[in-house]
Amino acid sequence: MSFPANFLWGAATSSYQIEGAVKQDGRGSSIWDDFCYTEGRVANGDTGDVAIDHYNRMPQDLDIMSELGLHAYRFSIAWPRIKPLGRGQIETRGLDFYDRLIDGLLARNITPLPTLYHWDLPSALQQIGGWTNREVADHFAEYTAVVVNKFKDRVDQWATLNEPWVSAFLGHAAGIHAPGLQDPAAAFSAAHHLMLAHGKAVQVIRDVAPKAKAGIVLNLAPVYLTEPAPDDHPAHQSIKLQDAMLNRWWLDSMFKSNYPEALLNLGDMVTNSIQDGDLAEISRPIDWLGINYYQDSRSVPVFGNEEAVQALDSTGNGAMPGDRGIRMADPVGEITDFGWSTTPDGLRRLLVMLTEDYENLPEMYVTENGCAYDDPMVDGKIEDSRRIEYLRAHLKSVEMAIEEGADVRGYMVWSLFDNFEWAEGYRQRFGIIHVDFDTQVRTLRESAHFYKEVITTKGENLG
Ligand code: FCB
Repeated sequence: MSFPANFLWGAATSSYQIEGAVKQDGRGSSIWDDFCYTEGRVANGDTGDVAIDHYNRMPQDLDIMSELGLHAYRFSIAWPRIKPLGRGQIETRGLDFYDRLIDGLLARNITPLPTLYHWDLPSALQQIGGWTNREVADHFAEYTAVVVNKFKDRVDQWATLNEPWVSAFLGHAAGIHAPGLQDPAAAFSAAHHLMLAHGKAVQVIRDVAPKAKAGIVLNLAPVYLTEPAPDDHPAHQSIKLQDAMLNRWWLDSMFKSNYPEALLNLGDMVTNSIQDGDLAEISRPIDWLGINYYQDSRSVPVFGNEEAVQALDSTGNGAMPGDRGIRMADPVGEITDFGWSTTPDGLRRLLVMLTEDYENLPEMYVTENGCAYDDPMVDGKIEDSRRIEYLRAHLKSVEMAIEEGADVRGYMVWSLFDNFEWAEGYRQRFGIIHVDFDTQVRTLRESAHFYKEVITTKGENLG
């Protein structure tokens, strides 16, 4: 077996998706509260107001983690609980909640892996432009200082941001996530300021907790065409741009201290917010890289009239780079409830690609991986065999990547519990633990039992 002896087996969640209690203990409003309260944004009008009430059920949830034998728990800290207005006043009751959580984890021998930002930006900061305002990067650094200082004696490993690609592009260009803008220039401005915030937060972690590991969590995937296109077809350029946005923007800026040429060449729309010295801040060395992987980014070339659709002009003008001449390929493999493909080999390829392409790549963790399936409960049992097969295939893929030289130190399944799945509301169930959203009863799916065995056998039951 190739999983190293001290491989960290864990599970992941995030604050807004599980906590509920949005008005409790002085929590301020976040852009996700605002987004949910805006009609038509979230499926079924669902909100995170109650979610799975983890805020009030945390001790019982800790016991479940213990029962599963988790080595690590990846969660996020809600900025608006710590600083209700995003800056200034500190809410100690918010800090107290995470204090109890962290103590509860340590008491059960579970390593806390907190992420400082998993998308719940304080609304008050959106009022000054959110991530399109450079100042917000400094507010993030100040918030980071408060949190890291409070927990520096008990937390050894920090993630700054979760999936900045989603915050920037789904939030500011596609408009399907908070804050719901459709403005490509705003998306690139946010993409840059998020990385600036990351760089500043890394420095804060160095200053406040010099022994702690600082890292970031990115959603990454191989990007490719599943069907050939003639050499002069715009699909090739689009794939390059998609790869630049999804993968290289974040990786190159951190590990090579530059942004991809293909994007910089697009001019103002992309470069507007970048100032001298920023890339030096962004490329401060990190100690670990978290990778969230669900499926490959697969496209097919389109021909004829369709090809011109969404053509990108020099200013961007509403369209996103990389939209030209392609559309998403139909899903392959076992298709999840979300309509996502199952492409487990992509995870191996991705981990190997990172290892080959980035000389100063730090140790890696798969910080999210999982799938949405809503299998029925029969006599208290939920046979989610498709989830088990998904997890098995991806874990074997991680194992192969390790054999091929990738330095992967841990794996966190997404998600520990069913939860509020952003724009999809409660209709996508990612948990290895089922939650009845009316009664808040938690039931271990078969995949939870399977995962428990993965942990105890150190992966030997994967076959
Ligand atoms: C990721 C998010 C996580 C969850 C999964 C399904 O993009 O980080 O919060 O929603 O997707």
